[in-house]
Amino acid sequence: MPLTRRPGTAADARGLVEVYAAYDMVEFGECDMERSDIEAMLALEDSESLVVEDDGIVGFADLAANGEAETLVDPSYDGAKDLHRELLTWAVQRAGERGIGRLEHWSGTSPEHASRVLGAVGFEAVRTMWRMHRDLAAYRPEAVWPAGVSMRRFDLERDGRDVWQVVMTSFAGAYGSHLRPYDDWVTRTIGTGYDVVCAEEDGAVVGVATTGVRGGDGHVGQLAVLPEHRGRGIARALLHECFRRDAVAGRAATTLGVDGENKTARQLYEKAGMRVTKEFRRWERDV
Ligand SMILES: CC(C)(COP(=O)(O)OP(=O)(O)OC[C@H]1O[C@@H](n2cnc3c(N)ncnc32)[C@H](O)[C@@H]1OP(=O)(O)O)[C@@H](O)C(=O)NCCC(=O)NCCS
Repeated sequence: MPLTRRPGTAADARGLVEVYAAYDMVEFGECDMERSDIEAMLALEDSESLVVEDDGIVGFADLAANGEAETLVDPSYDGAKDLHRELLTWAVQRAGERGIGRLEHWSGTSPEHASRVLGAVGFEAVRTMWRMHRDLAAYRPEAVWPAGVSMRRFDLERDGRDVWQVVMTSFAGAYGSHLRPYDDWVTRTIGTGYDVVCAEEDGAVVGVATTGVRGGDGHVGQLAVLPEHRGRGIARALLHECFRRDAVAGRAATTLGVDGENKTARQLYEKAGMRVTKEFRRWERDV
């Protein structure tokens, strides 16, 4: 049966859940891509995608306007490697046509699988990201807020833009972070099931942590404290509040991802009892 190729639609989320699960197990040794993450990706207006079908979906590629590319193939498909190369080539070609200057893509650490294909299509491994893990068994975490700082219950309508502003200001200039428009940020966080822990002082939001569930564990998506409020223990309190919520919900662990060269954040996480459990590679190439 010849392969068919077409743009992805919201209706593909169901079929893609299975392809993601199979691909991620081979590539990363685990799958924590939730259906809500796939739905959010398909809903983003500045992204375009390609679905390749045989008897069901065997390949998928997504390219965002900021150069974030995602490609995956069903590992049980006979021509998986060639198809993967085709999907990456599509991303490079579309990036060129859209005037996107640089592409980013993630892989696991095996030199086989995606790494081999990414290398063959001109990508270079530029950075390592770590998955960190905090076991919550027999642990009763408690957030200790610095004097003058308290927790605010998050309300999207009232606090959404303030939280987004704190995230964008805090991550500005951080390697690999993207300054996303407000609606895009909401789709990728609140739209995929995350809640927000807000730290406030004098009525203003000064630090935030987004907290959700990935692969059955609690997951911290973004942790950010405004530059002028750093070094006071606000991030530590936000992190412990995420642990506390996960423990209360009966989750076995809290996880998060951190850039391998973000020493400040890594030190914060290690002091809070988190340990590195996995590595991911970030690949990039000019177009
Ligand atoms: C990382 C970040 C959230 C820390 O916020 P913070 O409120 O200043 O952190 P805290 O005051 O709670 O510090 C807690 C611990 O973090 C570590 N830490 C914080 N700032 C540090 C620094 N400048 N250098 C080294 N370690 C630091 C320390 O271990 C500290 O514990 P200690 O005070 O007992 O030594 C903040 O710097 C930030 O928003 N950075 C930009 C966004 C970012 O990188 N987020 C994390 C991405 S995964």
